[in-house]
Amino acid sequence: MCGIIAYTGTQQAVSVILDGLKRLEYRGYDSAGIAYPDNGNLEVVKSSGKLHCLEQSLSCIPTEARTGIGHTRWATHGVPNQINAHPHLDGSQTISLVHNGIIENHAILKHWLEARGHHFVSETDTEVLVHLIADYTRQGYSVTNSLSAALSHVQGSFALALISSQHPGCIWAARHASPLVLGSGPNGYFVASDIPAFLPHTRDVVFLEDDELLVVEPSSWRLYRASSLEPLSRSVERVEWDLQAAEKGGYPHFMLKEIQEQPRVIQDCLSGRIDSVQGTVTIAEVEQLPLPSRIRILACGTSFHAGLWAKYLFEEWADIPVEVEIASEFRYRNISFSPGELALAISQSGETADTKAGLDIARGKGVPVLGLCNVLGSSIARASDAVLYTQAGPEISVASTKAMCSQMLALLLLAVYWGRGKGVLSREAEAEIVAGLGALPGDLESAIPPMRARAQDYARQFKQAKGFLYLGRGLAYPLALEGALKLKEISYIHAEGYAAGEMKHGPIALVEEDFPTCALDLGDRVSPKLFSNLQEIRARQGPVLLLAPEEVDFAEAQHWEIPGLSWPLASFAVLPAIQLFAYEMAVLWDKDVDQPRNLAKSVTVE
Ligand code: M6R
Repeated sequence: MCGIIAYTGTQQAVSVILDGLKRLEYRGYDSAGIAYPDNGNLEVVKSSGKLHCLEQSLSCIPTEARTGIGHTRWATHGVPNQINAHPHLDGSQTISLVHNGIIENHAILKHWLEARGHHFVSETDTEVLVHLIADYTRQGYSVTNSLSAALSHVQGSFALALISSQHPGCIWAARHASPLVLGSGPNGYFVASDIPAFLPHTRDVVFLEDDELLVVEPSSWRLYRASSLEPLSRSVERVEWDLQAAEKGGYPHFMLKEIQEQPRVIQDCLSGRIDSVQGTVTIAEVEQLPLPSRIRILACGTSFHAGLWAKYLFEEWADIPVEVEIASEFRYRNISFSPGELALAISQSGETADTKAGLDIARGKGVPVLGLCNVLGSSIARASDAVLYTQAGPEISVASTKAMCSQMLALLLLAVYWGRGKGVLSREAEAEIVAGLGALPGDLESAIPPMRARAQDYARQFKQAKGFLYLGRGLAYPLALEGALKLKEISYIHAEGYAAGEMKHGPIALVEEDFPTCALDLGDRVSPKLFSNLQEIRARQGPVLLLAPEEVDFAEAQHWEIPGLSWPLASFAVLPAIQLFAYEMAVLWDKDVDQPRNLAKSVTVE
């Protein structure tokens, strides 16, 4: 979704903001712009397309401005062109504003403003905001009061930042249901959608909550309740993210870097949670939660697949019934919860609007919520009763890879922990799992480099395929869904993920010589059933690429050997293989791997 960065301080604002926008590129965008005060006016420079277009437009405009706002836009209302790009200006050109979110009642507000003489130039919902604020300033209200008053009329979601030509060193910002964070550094203040935007400058941050309004001056900042302008106090937090983690570090793409980081991610996620000597799992973050009698998982996209994968483990090891809900569906259904039920909201970004809405519904019904998030201080993390951080480090590529690995691992640990707590899992079984987990980072470290070479070979071989079927059973079924999603989202090749047993109920009609099947096998009790399904595909001339442990013998398919890890750990070897296959296919087709078309990293609108 849209990315915002605003800056005021001692440095050259345009270059600080441009650099921040580049660091927000991963959020996905189709146009970009910057505004800054200039000799009593506001200068706005915008362009459609990638940031280098904006950079070109800016290169011929010398400016010494020390304050400004910048934006990368992911279009919701109005096509991605220069006029619709942010920042937007009011009619008198005294206020300029950037916005992430959707103003749901924009049509009514626009109509009302037009009747009061406001003239609109763009098709965006955002433009009503800047006119609404200006309507108040022209009545004599201060910018702070105007912003507060304007927001009282707005329905929808917003994170916004604005500057005024009358107050050249100041920034105003506010949020409701869209992320916004203040960075406080030695050379100035930053307001951004996400921490990586200002990570080279500071790690000291203040997370804004919903319905808060921030006023930033060159040497101070103040926080208010947006509706009443009651002053609020908030302490500055230091985040531990290091800059290197948010940079490519010599890799051609963030996605490749993040896939290869998975052994380290597993190590970090295990750290402090397993005791290899005792053979036990401890998860301090959930100690205060009662043992759930039922779990309702809320998630979207890849996080949903991680939840679906974990369902099998909660059932197997902890005998806990689990419902895995697509959050966007869940939020509009009439759901009743049972006593002892726990809602588990899974989100890498912690900002996914539908998952957050599902969480709010559960909490509203008195159900305790556990958040499983990667981004520290994110909205879902803060709104949950307890939060388990996946500790995967910043995930920059739009396609989620290491985050899913860390989610699966954290969920596996929870299943062991609660399984032991319920007495379903024996002490010996726990110790055996812990031993396997301890060896997992090393096992993968050596497996991933040769896996990449195989992925390259298979991508070349299947480059011309007209589509792919991904099949799996049991734990491999959610992985099949994920394999298909990865291929679709970065290489734009159509792929279907299916439970292998469902294949005969429809998708088998797709099978032909140029429609390969990628079958995922973990070498477990459902393997023979999978192989029967694959025979059916072979009988219809469908090529089969089988990802399976080395020892598997299935002559009818091309065998991509994965390390023979015990159940369920083989999943952690299949995951990087399907990610690498999608990656290599996208590279072969010369696609924009890290920023696939139409996609956004944090889906902060419905
Ligand atoms: O930040 P979240 O985990 O809540 O994001 C959920 C989905 O938007 C995300 O997983 C999406 O499907 C990715 N593009 C998948 O690679």
